[in-house]
Amino acid sequence: MAAPKYGLNPHLAKACPEPPVPLAKAWAASYPGSSSPFASSSSSSSASPPSQPLLNLAQGVPGHAPHASLIERMSQEAKRAPMETHGYGHVFGDASLRQALSHDLSTVYGAEVSVDKVACTAGCNMAAAVVFHALAQPGEAIVLPTPWYFNHQMTLASLAVEAVPLPTQSPAFLPSAQAFEDLVRRHNYGPASSSLPRIKAVVLVTPNNPTGSIYPHQLLDDFYAICAREGVALIVDET
Ligand SMILES: Cc1ncc(COP(=O)(O)O)c(C=O)c1O
Repeated sequence: MAAPKYGLNPHLAKACPEPPVPLAKAWAASYPGSSSPFASSSSSSSASPPSQPLLNLAQGVPGHAPHASLIERMSQEAKRAPMETHGYGHVFGDASLRQALSHDLSTVYGAEVSVDKVACTAGCNMAAAVVFHALAQPGEAIVLPTPWYFNHQMTLASLAVEAVPLPTQSPAFLPSAQAFEDLVRRHNYGPASSSLPRIKAVVLVTPNNPTGSIYPHQLLDDFYAICAREGVALIVDET
């Protein structure tokens, strides 16, 4: 097929990985096939399927229909107030939802998060896209601990914002606050800073996708202190 004359965003083709959700679905669908570790290590004949059931620990992947009671409630609400459920709402989200979130955030984090500081998006990927867009220009950078959540890197690539890796080690996969501080210093005002993209933010995902690691409070506090000191935004994704 001929390439379109209008050209496409070159950043998209440059650094976007294959989406892992269909890949994981294909692994699950092939179970208990030859790709199963149980099948290959089983002492019985390879013809007999493994006895262990598949435990799907995937999070955030809507591969199952909602419970019937939820579907029922949604249809009741759609009939009760069609314009509230189908029309454009407040740009930052329903007042009652923002109020409830403000209360929850203030309670969980032990610090006042007023309603006017709460904005709702259609899903967390959109929240990440909006925040990245608001914080960084093309050519600037946002730090992502590795291995990262693939959509964060894809969104940054499409915005031409550099994803600066902050390596973590197995088995805990906890990012080091010291290593993060070193990165910020090197990029933002070290001797080589003029040739390095300026770091505008760091994204912490806890519980982490893909590692499952849960970051201790102290680690979050340490990142917060560095970010506050260095004038770098701290983005926490708790999806
Ligand atoms: C860390 C993280 N952020 C964002 C998302 C996407 O969230 P949403 O489907 O609400 O856009 C996921 C989904 O797995 C996730 O794991």
